[in-house]
Amino acid sequence: MFVKIKGTGSCLPEKVLDNFEISQLVDTNDEWIQSRTGIKSRHIAREETAVSMAAKAAKRALEDAQVAAEEIDLLIVSSVSSEQLLPCTACSVQKEIGAVNAAAFDLNAACSGFIVAYQMAAGQIKAGLSKKALLIGVECLSNIVNWEDRGTCILFGDGAGAAVVSADEDGNIDGRGNIEIPSVLHSDGSRGEVLTCQNPTGKRADGSLKGYVAMDGREIYKFAARQVPVVVKEILEKAGKSVEEVDLFVLHQANARIVDAVARRLHIGIEKFPMNLQEYGNTSSASVPILLNELNRNGLLKKGQKLVLAGFGAGLSWGADILEWDIKG
Ligand code: ACO
Repeated sequence: MFVKIKGTGSCLPEKVLDNFEISQLVDTNDEWIQSRTGIKSRHIAREETAVSMAAKAAKRALEDAQVAAEEIDLLIVSSVSSEQLLPCTACSVQKEIGAVNAAAFDLNAACSGFIVAYQMAAGQIKAGLSKKALLIGVECLSNIVNWEDRGTCILFGDGAGAAVVSADEDGNIDGRGNIEIPSVLHSDGSRGEVLTCQNPTGKRADGSLKGYVAMDGREIYKFAARQVPVVVKEILEKAGKSVEEVDLFVLHQANARIVDAVARRLHIGIEKFPMNLQEYGNTSSASVPILLNELNRNGLLKKGQKLVLAGFGAGLSWGADILEWDIKG
């Protein structure tokens, strides 16, 4: 394995909006939401911003990794819902945390964003262009959710997760000099219409300004349940590992039914698929690093364990990374 995660952090907004509160806003109820999605509550930004949450998560990850902000030479923020377009969120985070030596930029790959950021960092490190990277997934989805649409507003939450990654001193995962970048990514723009959000500041030809998330939930469900098992098998084949050799599958936390379906199709016990979407809802590109951080902080990850990370969502885009956990549990 060419890169390893050296530290993690997260930040969730203080305000918790549970299913009972959301049923005061739209015609829904706790039973419907839980049975369809597994979600009980989500955190919603009030005072917090994408930049403030990302910066807090980043500082916690740096502290966990015992890496100084000045040592970071690459800072990637993945987000679709930051309150600012310019400067990019990554540059504002750079300023907040003092990562003065980092090249900083944002990427948008929706719910696959953290998986993409990991591959970008691994590629830069392998090419010798970076030594220590800080990856952040942050979302303020409450900025772009239509709070009058019960089909979407129940699903999403706000938050940030971060990880520090650097070159692995051992240089490989299997002791045989295999330094392939452990990542598989896919996109299919021809199916992009199933999950869209117009730029809230942009004006459409018909004069309307509709910067809200719109989706075909059933199509997304079918896409995820079909493609995620395939991409998991692909990454395992690339890494020369079997399903049984993987300790945990850390999937994008969209929906408990999707995670269940993936586990079933791979014939793997659901206990290998940790979930925290009950508490946070779908936080898009922040969900994988938030979950990783929670597992890390709760001592549920042991050095040497093999993890598969997988993301899937708008674009359509989907992908997976495989990594060996390097932090002592
Ligand atoms: N409360 C009560 N009723 C509701 C709600 C709600 N919040 N939302 C929809 N309904 C109603 C609909 O109006 C419809 O009523 P009708 O039959 O009278 O017309 C009925 O429930 C069924 O609606 P569907 O949209 O067909 O419901 P479905 O069973 O497909 O569940 C859901 C919807 C939960 C969104 C499901 O399609 C799903 O999980 N899809 C995956 C989508 C997803 O995870 N998106 C996240 C973003 S993308 C990503 O992160 C990968």
